[in-house]
Amino acid sequence: METITGASRLILVLGDITEQDTDAIVNAANPSLLGGGGVDGAIHRKGGEEILEECKIIRKTSYPDGLPTGKAVITTGGKLKAKNVIHTVGPIWNGGDKGEPELLAQAYRNSLSLAMKTGLKTISFPSISTGAYGYPIEKASRVAIKAVVEFLEKNKGIEEVRFVLHSEQDMRTYEEALKEILDFQ
Ligand code: APR
Repeated sequence: METITGASRLILVLGDITEQDTDAIVNAANPSLLGGGGVDGAIHRKGGEEILEECKIIRKTSYPDGLPTGKAVITTGGKLKAKNVIHTVGPIWNGGDKGEPELLAQAYRNSLSLAMKTGLKTISFPSISTGAYGYPIEKASRVAIKAVVEFLEKNKGIEEVRFVLHSEQDMRTYEEALKEILDFQ
């Protein structure tokens, strides 16, 4: 499913984020930036050592106590098709009244503004926090799409944003979310 928001294309893709050829792909990282499972594991496995080396430098120079939830940093894409990986940390679901929605929106907004600052034109997101971090995807998808649509309406420069979903079910959830958000426009 595809739509135009502001001056940007917003596309829902069923697939593997590590296969996307956008300028950047976004990693659903944890504060350590030292890898993990899911998206994090796939990106480090396919992207290679270079990515981890740059993550270690970022930890040492900028975030000795770990990357705070909602913040974003950028590294090389290593062996991936994408030139860069933007690492962000989504919130762990804790019932929904501990600031999770705003922290999730920040993860998307900060990733987009970092991509813009770096002069990148196309970016792919996974469904942040909806795996190991347990954020119910029906809720996360609305927060994610709303945050991205609002950002793209206010900021020109990003040409294409992809949400890369890993299952038919997740795809359908994001399609419903996108229709809902656009109907309210
Ligand atoms: N491409 C696209 N989406 C994927 C892929 C992939 N290759 N692999 C998994 N996903 C989907 C999952 O199905 C889920 O919907 O990405 C979403 C996010 O899942 P996680 O990767 O578990 O990320 P998250 O829920 O944010 O948890 C982050 O998990 O891997 C660790 O180090 C990471 O501690 C951190 C935590």
